Amino acid sequence: MTDKSQSTNPEPDLSFDRVDGHVKVTGAATYSAEYPFDHLAHAVLITSTIAKGKITSIETKLAGQAPGVLAVVSHLNNPGIPGYGIAKQPAERAPMGTAFRIFYDGLIYFDGQPVAMVVAETFEQAVHAASLVHIDYEVEVHQTNFEANLPKATIAPSVQKNKNSPFQDYDRGNAEAMTNADVKINATYIIPTQHHQPLEPHAIIAVWEADDRLTVYDKNQGVKSAQGNLAQIFKLPRENVKVISKFIGGAFGSGIRVWPHTIATVLAAKIVKRPVKLVLGRELMFTSVGYRPYTVQKIEIGATKEGKLSAITHEGTGQTSAYEEHLERTILATRAMYACPNVSTRYRLLNLDVNTPTWMRGPGDATGMFALESALDEVAFALQLDPLELRLRNHADSDPERNLQWSAKSLKECYEMGAQKFGWKNRSLQPRSMKLGGMLVGYGMASSLYGFHRHPSKAKAIILANGSVVVQSATMDIGPGTGTAMTRIAAKILGVQAKKIRFDLGDSSLPDAPGQNGSSTIPSVGSAVHVACESLKNKIIALAASMPDGDFSKPDPSEISIKNGVLYASSNAEKGLSYVDILKFHNLPQLEVTEESKSGPERDQFSMYSFGCHFVEVHVSPVTSEVRVKRVVTCADVGKIINYKTARSQSIGGIVGGIGMALMEASVMDHRRGRYLTRDFASYHIPVHADIPQIDVLYIDKPDVHVNPIGSKGLGEIAIVGVAAAVANAVFHATGKRVRELPITVSKLT
Ligand code: MOS
Repeated sequence: MTDKSQSTNPEPDLSFDRVDGHVKVTGAATYSAEYPFDHLAHAVLITSTIAKGKITSIETKLAGQAPGVLAVVSHLNNPGIPGYGIAKQPAERAPMGTAFRIFYDGLIYFDGQPVAMVVAETFEQAVHAASLVHIDYEVEVHQTNFEANLPKATIAPSVQKNKNSPFQDYDRGNAEAMTNADVKINATYIIPTQHHQPLEPHAIIAVWEADDRLTVYDKNQGVKSAQGNLAQIFKLPRENVKVISKFIGGAFGSGIRVWPHTIATVLAAKIVKRPVKLVLGRELMFTSVGYRPYTVQKIEIGATKEGKLSAITHEGTGQTSAYEEHLERTILATRAMYACPNVSTRYRLLNLDVNTPTWMRGPGDATGMFALESALDEVAFALQLDPLELRLRNHADSDPERNLQWSAKSLKECYEMGAQKFGWKNRSLQPRSMKLGGMLVGYGMASSLYGFHRHPSKAKAIILANGSVVVQSATMDIGPGTGTAMTRIAAKILGVQAKKIRFDLGDSSLPDAPGQNGSSTIPSVGSAVHVACESLKNKIIALAASMPDGDFSKPDPSEISIKNGVLYASSNAEKGLSYVDILKFHNLPQLEVTEESKSGPERDQFSMYSFGCHFVEVHVSPVTSEVRVKRVVTCADVGKIINYKTARSQSIGGIVGGIGMALMEASVMDHRRGRYLTRDFASYHIPVHADIPQIDVLYIDKPDVHVNPIGSKGLGEIAIVGVAAAVANAVFHATGKRVRELPITVSKLT
């Protein structure tokens, strides 16, 4: 397979290869469903076939007698989940804000809701027995149609209660400005429900070592938070719960919380007193682990004829379940992105009889920036102005929402580098004016931003007697290559080759770290690894200083360099002292430190964001209206790049997700039944390799000195933010047709 991305790698020889690449591609990596256990039992879920109502009976006799069956678990025989509290009258629907409680009272909140679990000796026996379970329901009228129910959308109850919520109605400046604008656009943008489709569906093995000791091997994005959640739900001391999640076959939000199927499996393992495994089939991914919510956005923008934004109003309404809120940043980027004095935002939620949405790569921002950046393109067209020029004229030199300086912002340089690489200057202004080989050619661009997140994190760094290094933190790798980046940080500070470093993650017994979400891992855990390795280096230098050899008697790290685990004093470059010898002299089996790193007062002194932009070329067939993305150039300012090779892969992944969002992804529901029709890869389309063009990834790669000791900001989420708009804008430029409802399928262009 050829590498379709250009060699924009500034450090081709320096980037580390994935430290876990070999075990991953050879099948040696153990994923959650792959841990071997004697007497492992297999579970399958039975899910509701109605969208609202209640179970009137569950007939399990036949299933119970089927070969190999160990248990059929439902609300009828659930011995109780201690953290769920006492059951109220079963007919009463849980109040808003109560997370869905599995096997609780037989009430149905959405189609596909897990209502029973069959556990058997083998998977096949469990599947067979599940087919013998008969469930009767009392059906109530459900509401799943977003458009039909839109008037019922409200401010979320939690927002009503919290005056400081960012989702409160927001107004800055003067609404009159809109009336006086020279040019106005007013449009509605829709994104459909989009579902997480990682290669590895969610999976868990639950093992009770004793009545009060639980280990779960669970695909998730945060072993520490899963540990805390499970301890709470099963009322166990936190230290009695262990969560292992060392290898993850992709996740970008679906693994942030503990889902009902996990709790069901833990419960089943308790009942059958054996380890129990559950793997979600692809179709269960549509109702078990959340999704990017269907969202309707109305945007009005007024501008002066000189191309200055005078006013923006942005209203977003997202869907959630009937039992729980899901709030996301949809309208928030609009307040900070451009230097516009008059901005109003509104955010509403619509409860439907569906499962609760969740975060999905660039949550809220990917949705909101599709609308804002499409609308900006519409303004540029109305003004007959180059879309990039419009953005430059409205560049926010400081944060207009919080009235703060940015910690760092090189967005203008991103625009310049990206435009240069892409050849933006060759774009003609008019739609349908560029053609190539019978195809309509479109150039589109969009900006992107993503907030900075840093959480307190710990890391332990160890030098072993043989001179190799182990670094540990309870962080995660959902795919970006966490271990590789952390190894690079440790290698640089400790002067040890990558192959002599091991980075441990994905185990709740390791030093405390946040889950992998919100693009916070490098900023948070990377800082902790940096601090721990610096501290370990100082400690070993101090040990060297106390040794009889005079070269190291002055313990000043700046006078000492380290190469391949050997210290050299600047006064004597010939004679080194190795880690091995230092530990041996001091009779130490190993030397270790644990450090914590977290934000300080700078958090409130600056406004911190990652910024970037995307340039996209599409070709559209004038005959069939098929859209092909031919080229993407992306440029991001995310502070210091830790490891270019893995960073670039992250950016490419985001672009691929954005292309899927723009052109393919949509979960379609049959509202007569309140059921998704798209339940597999045949019906839910995602880009394949042939859909993905050459992608050039550029970074500013300048440390942001205010965010943390490594100067690095988040990269994973911003990679997708704005991509769908850049594609839609390119399609408009190619065809003259503005598609405001994703995905941009052929039928919307003809
Ligand atoms: Mo990310 S959507 O916070 O995994």
